[in-house]
Amino acid sequence: MPPWTDRKGRLAPLKLAIFIGLFLPGLWVAWQWWQGDLAPKPVTEALHQTGAWSLRILLASLAVTPLRTVAHWPRLVDTRRMIGVGALAYVLIHFALYIYDQSGDLVRVASEIALRFYLTIGFVALVGLTALGITSTDGWVARLGSLRWNKLHRTIYWLTIFCLVHSFLQSKVDVSEPVIQAGVFVLLMGWRSLQARNLRGPLAMAGLACASALGAALLEAGWYAGKTGVDASRVLAANLDPDMAMRPASWVFLIAVALVPLRLLGQKRAPQPRARKVGGPRAA
Ligand code: HEM
Repeated sequence: MPPWTDRKGRLAPLKLAIFIGLFLPGLWVAWQWWQGDLAPKPVTEALHQTGAWSLRILLASLAVTPLRTVAHWPRLVDTRRMIGVGALAYVLIHFALYIYDQSGDLVRVASEIALRFYLTIGFVALVGLTALGITSTDGWVARLGSLRWNKLHRTIYWLTIFCLVHSFLQSKVDVSEPVIQAGVFVLLMGWRSLQARNLRGPLAMAGLACASALGAALLEAGWYAGKTGVDASRVLAANLDPDMAMRPASWVFLIAVALVPLRLLGQKRAPQPRARKVGGPRAA
């Protein structure tokens, strides 16, 4: 069945929109390449852009379940598999570009992967994501049984950590995007853990927003302190400086806070429990 249809084979507009949306970053990279905007090193630039998009899309796939629950939007879950497979497609293109960048010399590619830790960890993530992509079909769910299938697919959290580490390690100067992405990952994991403990109130959500923003701020300060020797307290203080551009921790906080209106919307959309009839012939 085409990916833009529901289980009954009918056109599903949400799935169609996401299906088209998944092509856009790739088409944008191709267009820039065609226009010569990726010069002087188009392959390296395309490698970077596809890497960045694969991680963004991977995080989007992890955000589906929280968004579906918070916004009470059950249909969103139908798009999760497609988004995950989209992330895998970008990873595979990213890897193909790397091979092309190494002039197709597979021996050199293998030795680089073996010798450079950030590539080794990227390769492990690629193998893991490929395994999850292959086993994402209904046939594999039936073959493995839902318990084993779920256990296998929970490795996605570790694989995402590997991708984040790969992204951090390859960063040269600016780690703003990896810090935001790591903060969003903490937010998504924190949400799952609160959910498991049945903590869903506004106080829990506010605590989660603060904790994920604080996590991002500490990670950023720790990273710069470790890599460049900049005083961590100065990096932390920059988060409170109103003259500075918005820091990664503030972005994470904003993303977390955006869950509040979504939650309110979700409460409106959720079916209301039926009110008990008072009076009427039976009550008499
Ligand atoms: C065998 C597997 C992989 C190889 C060989 C590889 C290779 C590379 C290389 C060479 C770079 C640029 C480094 C530089 O310029 O110094 C890069 C960047 C990146 N890669 Fe990978 N990668 C692999 C897997 C992955 C995976 C699985 C992901 C995550 C989904 C990923 C996400 C990224 C990201 C986010 C960047 C940074 C892009 C940017 O913001 O500029 N890579 N990768």
